[in-house]
Amino acid sequence: MSAVIELKDVHKSFGQVEVLKGVSLAVERGEAIAVIGRSGSGKSTALRCVNRLETIQSGEINVCGHPVHDPKLDVRKLRLDVGIVFQSYNLFPHLTVEENIMLAPVTVKKLRKAEARALAAQALARVGLAEKAQSYPEQLSGGQQQRVAIARSLAMQPQVMLFDEVTSALDPELTGEVLRVMEDLAKGGMTMLVVTHEMGFARKVADRIVYMHQGRVWEVGDGSMLANPQTPELRAFMAHDL
Ligand SMILES: Nc1ncnc2c1ncn2[C@@H]1O[C@H](COP(=O)(O)OP(=O)(O)OP(=O)(O)O)[C@@H](O)[C@H]1O
Ligand SMILES: [Mg+2]
Repeated sequence: MSAVIELKDVHKSFGQVEVLKGVSLAVERGEAIAVIGRSGSGKSTALRCVNRLETIQSGEINVCGHPVHDPKLDVRKLRLDVGIVFQSYNLFPHLTVEENIMLAPVTVKKLRKAEARALAAQALARVGLAEKAQSYPEQLSGGQQQRVAIARSLAMQPQVMLFDEVTSALDPELTGEVLRVMEDLAKGGMTMLVVTHEMGFARKVADRIVYMHQGRVWEVGDGSMLANPQTPELRAFMAHDL
């Protein structure tokens, strides 16, 4: 087995405040990992470090063979391999769904429009929105817009995908359709690191769950760990969350 995402004793501070206090984690190819934990435990920061949206003070991060901790990292190459989806979809309102998805393949990868359009069609089919290619974002529900954002990421054909609370801004009835798309991706073998509050998704879809607490990986386990916490901190977290 070869880890495609590996964090080794990662320390990250903002000013005087250390928010990652020695995080280590290895994600194998094809694994879907759910990252859970209280607000402020460092989940988003850890995810952002993987894509070099944040730099770290010490430790090592290797992603798809890219030494992310290295100041000389080719950030552009790293980001070709790593897709990231946030809570806010940030689609361009004046572009159609298809144009939104084609933008990065054309401008970043320099693909011909026909190629980019084909990739967009494929990606839209994967998120169940093939018929929305010519729609504008405002004509779609929040759940559909988030699925377009996922398709936009998929069209770049990343090796790994990072998700940060992608359903948090959605009404409960729209959350399910986005989670199903992510479940399909996981089943299709995509390597995924998913920060989520959706305990059902963590339990049923994730190969492993990582519970973060106060800047540390506190517990790691499979779906059964939520029903059988080994630490008082995870027990308290689960009690509050249910
Ligand atoms: N750019 C920043 N500057 C200063 N402090 C920051 C910055 N980003 C995050 N922090 C701090 O780092 C800590 C961890 O934040 P982070 O966003 O990683 O938590 P989280 O686990 O994702 O929380 P949530 O569930 O609320 O999203 C928090 O105390 C936060 O205030
Ligand atoms: Mg967060």
